[in-house]
Amino acid sequence: MAAVADEEGFPIIGPDAGGLLRTLAATTRAERIFEFGSGFGYSAYWSLQGMVDGGEIVLTEFDEDELSMAEDFFERAGLTERAHFEYGDAMETVEEYDGPFDVVLVDHQKERYSDAFEAIRADLPVGAVVVADNMMRGPMELYDLLAYFESGDPLPDDSATRGVADYIETVRAAEGFQTTLVPVGSGLALTTRVDGNTLTSAHRS
Ligand SMILES: C[S@@+](CC[C@H](N)C(=O)[O-])C[C@H]1O[C@@H](n2cnc3c(N)ncnc32)[C@H](O)[C@@H]1O
Repeated sequence: MAAVADEEGFPIIGPDAGGLLRTLAATTRAERIFEFGSGFGYSAYWSLQGMVDGGEIVLTEFDEDELSMAEDFFERAGLTERAHFEYGDAMETVEEYDGPFDVVLVDHQKERYSDAFEAIRADLPVGAVVVADNMMRGPMELYDLLAYFESGDPLPDDSATRGVADYIETVRAAEGFQTTLVPVGSGLALTTRVDGNTLTSAHRS
């Protein structure tokens, strides 16, 4: 799959972020995962390696060719039964699914990241993790983002950088969630549902 991405110049999440997805799927003992923007299934394939036996993943993609490639890859790997291949706008597909989801990957249009989080946050139990890609690299300008957060400089007029800034502000302000930015792959935001009191009760016991 990595070779196909290389040939096509397709922006997969990459092996480091993929490995982290697998780890998160394992540590959350994930039974259900939802992806916003699945491409040809590379990130979903990594996540499935860490999920519990029989765990299922929802792939969303509005490029028919990419989704069809994902179906082919998963069939070859014998994983078809564990995947839901949803063609169309991920923001509409998410409304058709009920939670809970243990891990969510946000990797579609940057200007819709915040809307994706808002659409799925009620479906996340304590311990669930939302992973958002391209926080530090990709179709966004890292130095403009840093200047905005560190010095209050205005954001440039580009929707990807604005989308990432808006996402970071949205998840940081979300009550009951804690966000960490990690420089893995193109930069990931890991937003965990903690429900506010988790740390306090752990300290008391
Ligand atoms: C960065 S790629 C995803 C890569 C994939 N997560 C991986 O690592 O293998 C983003 C994909 O999201 C798709 N996409 C963007 N906006 C979308 C939307 N609103 N609904 C469904 N798919 C979308 C694009 O067609 C593209 O294939």
